[in-house]
Order: sequence, then C-alpha cells, then structure tokens
Amino acid sequence: MPSPTLQSNLLRVLAGEALDPPPVWLMRQAGRYLPEYRALRAKAGGFLQFCYAPELAAEATLQPVRRFDLDAAILFSDILVVPDGLGARVDFREGEGPVLEPTGAKDVDRLSLRRMRAHLAPVYETVARVRASLPPSKALIGFAGAPWTVACYMAEGKTSRDFAAPKAWLWRDPASFQALIDLLVEATIEHLAAQIEAGADCVQLFDTWAGILPDAEFRRYAIAPIARIAAGLKRRHSGTRIIGFPRGAGAMLEEYARKTGVDAVGLDYGIPLEAGRAVQARLPVQGNLDPVLLLAGGTAMIDRIAEIRRAFSAGPHIFNLGHGILPPTPPEHFAALVDAVRGAAVP
Ligand code: CP3
Repeated sequence: MPSPTLQSNLLRVLAGEALDPPPVWLMRQAGRYLPEYRALRAKAGGFLQFCYAPELAAEATLQPVRRFDLDAAILFSDILVVPDGLGARVDFREGEGPVLEPTGAKDVDRLSLRRMRAHLAPVYETVARVRASLPPSKALIGFAGAPWTVACYMAEGKTSRDFAAPKAWLWRDPASFQALIDLLVEATIEHLAAQIEAGADCVQLFDTWAGILPDAEFRRYAIAPIARIAAGLKRRHSGTRIIGFPRGAGAMLEEYARKTGVDAVGLDYGIPLEAGRAVQARLPVQGNLDPVLLLAGGTAMIDRIAEIRRAFSAGPHIFNLGHGILPPTPPEHFAALVDAVRGAAVP
C-alpha cells in the first residue's frame, strides 16, 4: 500500500507504484526556450548570480510548472555550483558555456567543504521558497552532478567532446584523481542533504559524461561514487529517493541499476525500450523521449510518446526526455507533449 503521506504522483512512482497516466516533468524544463525565462535572465546579470538570487531562482523554478501544470519542479541551479562553492573558479560565458580554472592534482587540497556549505546557502533558501509555494501534489526535485561529470568539467576547464584531461589524469595518477572523486562524494552528500533539509522531496544525480568511461573505469568512477552517495544520503535522511541518470551507460546500465543503490534510473534516448523494460523489472524508470523529437513536434513526436507510454505502462514510469530540452524548442511542443502523456490510456 502506498503511504498516505506520499501526496505527489512522482513520489508514488519512486516508491514503486505504476500510474497511468505517468507523472511528467522534463530535464532542463527551466531555460532559454521559455520567453519568461529569458526575461528573468536579462534582469539577473550573470548566470551564477542568477543561481544565487533566491527570489529569481525560485521564480525560474516555478515558471515551467505553472505554464505546463507539471507533476514536479526541479530546483533552478546548476551542477557547477558545487565546484564554485568548493573554491574552483567557475564562470559562464555567453555562447561559450562554463569556463573553469582547470583543477589538477596539486589543487585538490585547496578545495574546501566548509566554504561550500556557506557559499551555497542561497541555493538552499531557493529550495525553501519553492517548496513553500508549491502545492503538496507537486514534488520538488533537488539535484547535483555526479562526481565523475563534475570532475570532467573541473579537470578540463570547459566542455569537450572527449574530456581527455580527466581521462588522462585518472590513468596517469589514479591516487590524486581518486582524492578529487572522494572530495566530490563528500561535497555531493552535503549538498543534497542540505537540499533535503530545506524541503526537496527527492533528488536526481546527473552523470552526463558516464558514457565516455570504459567498463572498469565506469565501475570505479560512475558506479562506486554513486553507491557511496546513496548510502551516505540515506544514512542522514533514510526516506530520501534518488534518481540516477548515467547518460550513455549503454550495456553498463543494468549493473548501474543493480549496484548503485539508487531508487530509479533515468534512461537516455539511446537506450532501446526493451532494455529500459529490463531495468524497470528491478527499479522505476524515467525517460526517454529524444529532445530533438520534442523540438520537431508533430505526429512523429506524438507517436513516439504513445510508444514509450505503452512500453512502460505495466510498471513504475516517470515520463521525461532522454536528455535536456534544447534551447530552440517551441514551448507549444512541450504543451502538446503534456497533453499526449495525459491523454487516454494507451492500448
Ligand atoms: O530546469 C532544470 O533542469 C534545472 C536547472 C539545471 C540547469 N543545469 C540550468 C542551466 C540543471 C538540472 C542543470 C544540469 C546541468 N548543468 C548538467 C547536467 C545535465 C545535462 O544537461 O547534461 C550539466 C552538464 C550542466 C553544466 C552546464 N550548465 C553547461 C554545460 C551549460 C552550458 C550549456 C547550456 O545549456 O547553456 C550550463 C548552463 C545552464 N544551466 C543554463 C541553464 C538554464 C543556460 C544558461 C543561460 O541561461 O544562459
């Protein structure tokens, strides 16, 4: 029986219930594709300033939930606030994405967990504000980047196709790379626990670059750190539900679902529906419409939504994309997606 305190559909599915229609939210649902976001962004100044302005960040969080009547809000913030809080310099440049002062073996000792908790206080205030203005039927999702993906940006200093800097580091000097991962495990537990304490109902771990790791390194840097975070967070907040999103995991996905201790798995759009169903036999799944199909819209999108619903309707499923919304996406396509997800049951 579902607990009577589970008032939101998202939490019911994370607890293992199958709901038809499934709850729906989309990765990167707050962002530049929304005109109201662009207006707010113009007022905020820099992107990190925006993330650290609780009133504006709370408004950005709520915009898509209001416009599309979604089942969940995701905190408006970024995965790179953790390195910023630890003392690695992070900057977001127009048209360039994030730029960081690259972190190397000699820099790990200078990063500070104590500094992070104080620096990120405005983020936790945003969480409290959003939770206070959302009805209990809508869940608030907190999040963090997975240690591997955060380490990728820290070591590379920018985005990249192959992230040669963190990969070369982990093979040349595994001990100092592990020290960075260990620090990020602690920082992530702290950051997620603080979001839960401020009112987040569940959390998601984004491992955007998990798929560039070969199998042995996937186990060491994409599975083991998540297992430590899940155990550490549940030690502090036993009821917390965690969604893991190991993008590009491919054939390693089943092992990720079995060994990390996450409560649900986000499926990227490269995961075949049958492989997603195999994961769903063990855990609730979330996903996995191709974001370009949302951009394209029309019958191709509507048909694929029906196919995804049909594939996952027998078990716990949260409707979502297989990666974040693309900035040129027309908001009307998002509205059509929500209608299609909430339409009549699929045969
Ligand atoms: O709506 C939401 O999903 C909540 C907010 C959120 C953002 N970033 C806001 C954002 C979330 C959950 C993220 C996660 C994130 N950030 C990831 C993991 C998920 C993924 O997309 O793979 C990563 C790798 C980042 C790092 C990051 N932040 C990059 C590489 C960029 C530049 C590319 C881009 O999309 O602009 C960002 C910037 C960013 N984060 C924006 C937003 C709304 C755009 C900044 C702007 O408004 O100018």
